[in-house]
Amino acid sequence: MQAIVMHETGDPDVLRYEEADRPELGDGEVLIRVHAASVNPVDWKYRRGFVETPLPTVLGNDISGTVEASRADGFAEGDRVFGISASGGYAEYSTASAAAIARKPEAVSHEQAAAIPVAGLTAWQALLDRGGLQGGQTALVAGAGGGVGHLAVQFAKLAGARAIGVGSTRNRDFVLGLGADEYVDYTQQDVGEAVSSADIAFDAVGGDTTASLLPAVREGGILVTIAGAPPEEAAREREVRAELMVMSPKSEQLAQIAELVADGDVRVEIAEAMPLTDVKRAHELSESGHVRGKLVLTLAV
Ligand SMILES: NC(=O)c1ccc[n+]([C@@H]2O[C@H](COP(=O)([O-])OP(=O)(O)OC[C@H]3O[C@@H](n4cnc5c(N)ncnc54)[C@H](OP(=O)(O)O)[C@@H]3O)[C@@H](O)[C@H]2O)c1
Repeated sequence: MQAIVMHETGDPDVLRYEEADRPELGDGEVLIRVHAASVNPVDWKYRRGFVETPLPTVLGNDISGTVEASRADGFAEGDRVFGISASGGYAEYSTASAAAIARKPEAVSHEQAAAIPVAGLTAWQALLDRGGLQGGQTALVAGAGGGVGHLAVQFAKLAGARAIGVGSTRNRDFVLGLGADEYVDYTQQDVGEAVSSADIAFDAVGGDTTASLLPAVREGGILVTIAGAPPEEAAREREVRAELMVMSPKSEQLAQIAELVADGDVRVEIAEAMPLTDVKRAHELSESGHVRGKLVLTLAV
């Protein structure tokens, strides 16, 4: 098969389009002919060597495609599925555990479906599972224009909460258009001064942003970060819980999110869909840290 293989860490140039062996199918897994894959920031973090991985490797977690062979109950050849790859998504074929995939609804394209898994599960689990967001509460979402953040804003609204997005000037109308009740432009305003009583702050940015959200959270509230170390001591002083959350693949949640997209209740923003062979450009864009929504790689099938 053709795949993007990384033999060493470094600049986007280390990503090479070449012939590779098809991944072997294990028990409980399906082999998927990949129609679309999406790029997440963790991909360039692996590429840079910030996260260790054995080499050579095929990067990419998010895939959507057609089952070619199955050794898993509940999935058969020809099923359209999407989810999290086990063998690497930037390839013509990829394996996935049955627990990490779900059926793709007809009304959702492969491009949209490939954009959902990591971003959707992370937003869902951070706000609803870890954050326990309830109707009537206020959720502050930092990085609201990004892959995870734009879905988090919409999940908060669907939960009946008030959503306040944080992002740059260019994403104001986009985030308000997703249903956010308010927007804080971090290039103009300090979020801790603009907001004071959020029940949950969700940090999809990291760095200095994480601690800057603390003054925006009410006493007894929670700061959930997905992008770095939580500021535990400063949080304790303010009587706020601060926690790092790491996403787990969950088939039922994937199915729930895809239904919301199929029904038109959630919009998946695709910044750009480009051929797999444009992966270097996709990585450059992702590494810039300012993508709106998701970057998708498509494969000719
Ligand atoms: N722990 C986990 O399980 C997990 C899972 C998924 C992702 N992550 C991590 O979470 C982070 C976000 O992922 P993603 O896929 O959403 O990334 P992304 O698509 O690159 O989005 C990042 C967004 O952050 C915004 N941003 C940049 N600086 C900001 C600031 N100072 N304040 C507010 N917004 C800012 C950017 O928009 P503007 O142009 O408006 O600045 C951009 O839209 C990454 O670090 C990723 O590795 C962790």
